[in-house]
Amino acid sequence: MGTKKQQPRGLFITLEGGEGSGKSTHIRHLAEVLTQAGYPVLQTREPGGTATAEAIRHILLTASSHEPVTPQAEALLILAARCQHVTHLIRPALQRGALVLCDRFSDSTFAYQGFARGLDLHWLRAANEFATGGLTPDLTVVLDLPVSVGLSRRRANRGQQNRLDSETERFHRKVRRGFLALAAEEPGRMTIVNSNRPAQEVRDELTEIVVGWIARPRRSPRHRS
Ligand code: TMP
Repeated sequence: MGTKKQQPRGLFITLEGGEGSGKSTHIRHLAEVLTQAGYPVLQTREPGGTATAEAIRHILLTASSHEPVTPQAEALLILAARCQHVTHLIRPALQRGALVLCDRFSDSTFAYQGFARGLDLHWLRAANEFATGGLTPDLTVVLDLPVSVGLSRRRANRGQQNRLDSETERFHRKVRRGFLALAAEEPGRMTIVNSNRPAQEVRDELTEIVVGWIARPRRSPRHRS
């Protein structure tokens, strides 16, 4: 056989959004629906997904205020976790032909570390490319809702709060604007769903978008990597 690099055959779908947008609940439901429909689904999350990446997640979300994590260290830790995740879980699953559903990915880094923390977006994009080997989601759905609504949902559920939840509302407004700006830049890949509605409505629209998108005829290779 020739030396042509084998293209991954799976599909890579990510769910993005600010705090309290309901991603984790909706992605679980989506995974169930798609599994029942016979797709070989791998559900995962960021930061995390492998043992090392989950250990980095723990550092990121629980770091003590005695030694604040700098924005630069935060970005590097997130990218290190992503590199492990892509190398050891996501890429092998795509190579096997799996449908990978990931709760957050690179767009979170651009929105949180870029738009909200103020790190240079060009640098972040280049470093992200280095960490992922250029792997980009095929489809990204952003669950959007007003920051005040998302934060009060999170506060009502105190067990879920993490270090980034306690950032100012202004910070979270920048995250939201970041996601909306990213979606405007790439309308072919990114779709926005209004999450400020009853969960059932959001779930139905999300399922319809993803199932409809999967069923669309497409030419190989199915995603950029
Ligand atoms: P989660 O609450 O959706 O599980 O995400 C954990 C936190 O990590 C959330 O506050 C957003 C943050 N995060 C970043 O700041 N940058 C990233 O690239 C990712 C993946 C997450």
